[in-house]
Amino acid sequence: MPEVGIGIAGYGMMAKAHAYAYTVAPVMRSLGCRPRLRLISGRDRDKVSRAAAAYGFEAWTADWHDLLDRRDVDIVDICTPPGTHAEIAEAAAAAGKAVICEKPLAVSFAQAAAAAEAVRQAGVLNAVGFNYRRLPAVSLMKRMIDEGGVGSVRLLRAVWLSDEFVDPAIPFDWRFDRSMGGTTIADLGSHLIDMATWMAGGIAEVSGQSATFVPRRSNQAVTVDDASSALVRFESGALGVFEMARMAVRRPCDFTIEVNGDRGTLAFAYPRLNELLYGEGADRPGLYGMRTIRAEHESHPYARNWWPVGQGVGYGATFVNHLGDLLDRYPEGPWEPDFAQGASVQAVCEAIERSAAERRWVAVSEVMAGAGIRP
Ligand SMILES: NC(=O)c1ccc[n+]([C@@H]2O[C@H](COP(=O)([O-])OP(=O)(O)OC[C@H]3O[C@@H](n4cnc5c(N)ncnc54)[C@H](O)[C@@H]3O)[C@@H](O)[C@H]2O)c1
Repeated sequence: MPEVGIGIAGYGMMAKAHAYAYTVAPVMRSLGCRPRLRLISGRDRDKVSRAAAAYGFEAWTADWHDLLDRRDVDIVDICTPPGTHAEIAEAAAAAGKAVICEKPLAVSFAQAAAAAEAVRQAGVLNAVGFNYRRLPAVSLMKRMIDEGGVGSVRLLRAVWLSDEFVDPAIPFDWRFDRSMGGTTIADLGSHLIDMATWMAGGIAEVSGQSATFVPRRSNQAVTVDDASSALVRFESGALGVFEMARMAVRRPCDFTIEVNGDRGTLAFAYPRLNELLYGEGADRPGLYGMRTIRAEHESHPYARNWWPVGQGVGYGATFVNHLGDLLDRYPEGPWEPDFAQGASVQAVCEAIERSAAERRWVAVSEVMAGAGIRP
């Protein structure tokens, strides 16, 4: 079986999640290639060397450029803060590597579009880490929408509540810095926007609002929003509502996504991540309401790769399913969601940010045109 060399930039939480997935994917499903954890990079030699040993890498380096020089690294997987993504991705593409990049693709649409153009010109496989698409229940939701389970989509609402920023004593780090961490809109909202556009098509215009409730940390100015929300209008004419907050007390990672079509409703809530709620207008009146589907039946997406029905999966499965799919399609492709989708999501994030700042509806095409790109 051919081996595929993996190089990861960064050694934090996402590097751990990706290393876990490369290790577990070949255990849970048969793949056309075998991933080898060749090299991991990080600026702190002590921390990166310990991470390399713990995650099972053959070697480590304090300079991410080494990932590009190694002939036995086929895929560069970027798990560093968003402000570093585009530079590393463009360099990896120029070196002929396939590139996987954690979300959000960048900290601005212009940067994201440049990265998408770089991988296109280099002709390398590319993917963005929108892992929640690969939760079995979310994949099933998409499949049921495509199969007409709700009819024509009229309404979509997606909310992500986290308490990550609630404590004002949390010291300043990259997540509070606009140029390195992006925004809460892009951090949490990028997942929601990716799932929403995957399920309901492109977003035409947005009206957003934002707040930063703790404006200083460690005596430095916080330059990102703590919470934002937006009304959106899809290209199809469907209406949407998004909310993303890192200021919701006792809410760890609670996202919900609900779609109402002309014939049915589908609703997903992360705290019950193996379930999907479904209400169908054609049901007998006596069954009025929403039924709970256990998204683990062998007929459901990814179920055959996991445990017997009833055992469920968790967060780690999103990475195993996602990176497993990419490995399975290496080197022919296609990979999805790709950088082009990552850039489209970034345009919506930026439109919400601009709308909130300028207190007006903003067309996504305005953001694209501002960066010199025709929608
Ligand atoms: N898909 C998901 O579920 C998910 C979850 C969390 C984070 N993320 C994304 O993954 C990426 C990394 O997040 P994380 O939670 O692993 O962060 P982290 O803080 O745990 O790790 C970040 C890594 O980048 C390094 N780093 C920090 N500042 C840097 C800089 N200026 N230049 C180069 N390297 C730097 C750190 O040393 C560390 O190795 C972010 O883009 C984040 O949005 C995705």
